Amino acid sequence: MCGIVAYIGNREACPLIIKGLKRLEYRGYDSSGVALIEDSELNIYKKKGKVSDLESQLTDKNLNAKIGIGHTRWATHGEPNDVNAHPHFSNDRKLAIIHNGIIENYAAIKQNLIQKGHVFQSATDTEVLIHFIEDIQKETGTSLEEAVRLALLEVVGAYAIVVMSVDFPDQLIAARKGSPLVIGVGKDEFFFASDATPIIEYTKDVVYLDDYEVAVVRDGKLSIQNLDNTQKVPYIQKLEMELETIEKGGYDHFMIKEIFEQPRSIADSMRGRVRADEAHLQLGGLANYIDKLAASERIVIVGCGTSWHAGLVAEYLFEELARINVEVEYASEFRYRNPVIKENDIVIAISQSGETADTLAAIELAKSKGATIFGVCNVVGSSIARASHAGAYTHAGPEIGVASTKAFTAQVTVLTLIAIATAKRKGTISEETYRQLLVELETIPAKVEQVFENAAKIKEIAFIFTYARNFIYLGRGLNFPVALEGALKLKEISYIHAEGYPAAEMKHGPIALIDEDMPVVFLATKDSSYEKIVSNIQEVKARKGRVIAIVTEGDTLIPTMVDFVIEVPKVHEILTPLVSVIPLQLLSYYIAVMRGRNVDQPRNLAKSVTVE
Ligand code: AGP
Ligand code: GLU
Repeated sequence: MCGIVAYIGNREACPLIIKGLKRLEYRGYDSSGVALIEDSELNIYKKKGKVSDLESQLTDKNLNAKIGIGHTRWATHGEPNDVNAHPHFSNDRKLAIIHNGIIENYAAIKQNLIQKGHVFQSATDTEVLIHFIEDIQKETGTSLEEAVRLALLEVVGAYAIVVMSVDFPDQLIAARKGSPLVIGVGKDEFFFASDATPIIEYTKDVVYLDDYEVAVVRDGKLSIQNLDNTQKVPYIQKLEMELETIEKGGYDHFMIKEIFEQPRSIADSMRGRVRADEAHLQLGGLANYIDKLAASERIVIVGCGTSWHAGLVAEYLFEELARINVEVEYASEFRYRNPVIKENDIVIAISQSGETADTLAAIELAKSKGATIFGVCNVVGSSIARASHAGAYTHAGPEIGVASTKAFTAQVTVLTLIAIATAKRKGTISEETYRQLLVELETIPAKVEQVFENAAKIKEIAFIFTYARNFIYLGRGLNFPVALEGALKLKEISYIHAEGYPAAEMKHGPIALIDEDMPVVFLATKDSSYEKIVSNIQEVKARKGRVIAIVTEGDTLIPTMVDFVIEVPKVHEILTPLVSVIPLQLLSYYIAVMRGRNVDQPRNLAKSVTVE
């Protein structure tokens, strides 16, 4: 959600920033803008719509600035339009700011500044912040960086900001609290961005700014201090990401590229962790915590959206394999509910981006009550990863499509590994089951590959249902969260209303919706719920619903009962979601494409939801 790109050095800042903003487009936004200092003038160009709209506005200008800040905005305060787009000027138009997040106490500050004669152009909280910084600078006669620090001490809310001043064209100031910010360190040049994707082609040396830190680049040098004024030594890390992993590689959309990447990403999430032939399973990040996990009486899993669905899968796994009581919570509900958390509770926080504001806040709450936090994140160095006591990265590689696909299967893979490791340590599974599960896990990438053989068939089914207005997804046991995930995928990118339900719950309400126009997707693989799901299919067919069933290959019964079948290979029951979700991802993708939707950046959605 929202992207920040800033540059200071010897290159042309404008094209570099525009390219960087395009790399951040996947995060979701509604408008974009840049501020540049050229020939001792500070100019701002901004536009509602796509970065390409901004770019076309820039072409006829002579842009040779070597310093600039750029932003893709996801509106929280004030509608998405040209005026509310970032950057914003200070009152005297000498300062410019870009901001990701929310200044919660902006109204009171604004009121005070209006009384002092400040005139505001936009409805944003961001503009208030830059006027406030200017006001402090003028009132106290202090340096810009000190004014930024003093202003931030007064601010309630979340932010990543970059500020520049026409009076100091060799200086950029950045700060963060609750929103991500990475600094790329090149030779005599510095890059600031919301994540590493705009930086990677220039340098692999990065510094992840922490909460309450202010970074200043001046005269080609980076310094970092805390909001309480203590100096910090910048900790430079090496990025491991490669550029080609963030480009489309010949596919029409990132989403389909990421769906087809799953055999590899699932393998990557197990790489170095599982070796079935040696009965080896080890997660480095958990080594010091596995005993605690095995001894725990309760695990609380927090997450949002797809990550929450992965949590529901994990609930089955931990209960089944390790016999530990698990509660899965929406992070947004958990954080405001005064939840009961005890010191020996383990909280597993699941997040692809590692920046989801609600999940981060849920972690902080649980931490303050003494719980141990495990992060299961995809983005290395992300806020949630850093806020956790321990954790395991999912290693799915950058996920650019807003609809999560490979991150989900990587999350489920890693959570499966954690559950098996815990069960092994606890002695709740036999050596034989343990070995068998590892062998089965290693077969998953090839089995996912096998599901792709059905892609053409899934496309045909998608064609038939392109203009459906509703969909129901039903599953039981481990396939219930998969039903929820299938429904979420469809609504996110096709804008078709879809509901996921436990198949047996259908008769308590949703069955009233079934008629000859209602497509019902059944997760009907051959597992311990098979007989029951067959009955549920009959209930839908009796009411003329149109059934698409995901079945285990070789099933001869269900194909005689339903309208369409999609086969998936047989896997160990515990691992079912890793293959049964794949056809649902493809179905939603093809339907959305046929409906002409913007698959990678669906309306109203952001890739990383950094506001609550
Ligand atoms: C998934 O397709 C969604 N875009 C969304 O539900 C997402 O899973 C959710 O916002 C959580 O994000 P996170 O995993 O980055 O924390
Ligand atoms: N709150 C700011 C605004 O509405 C920033 C939003 C963002 O993070 O993009 O302009």
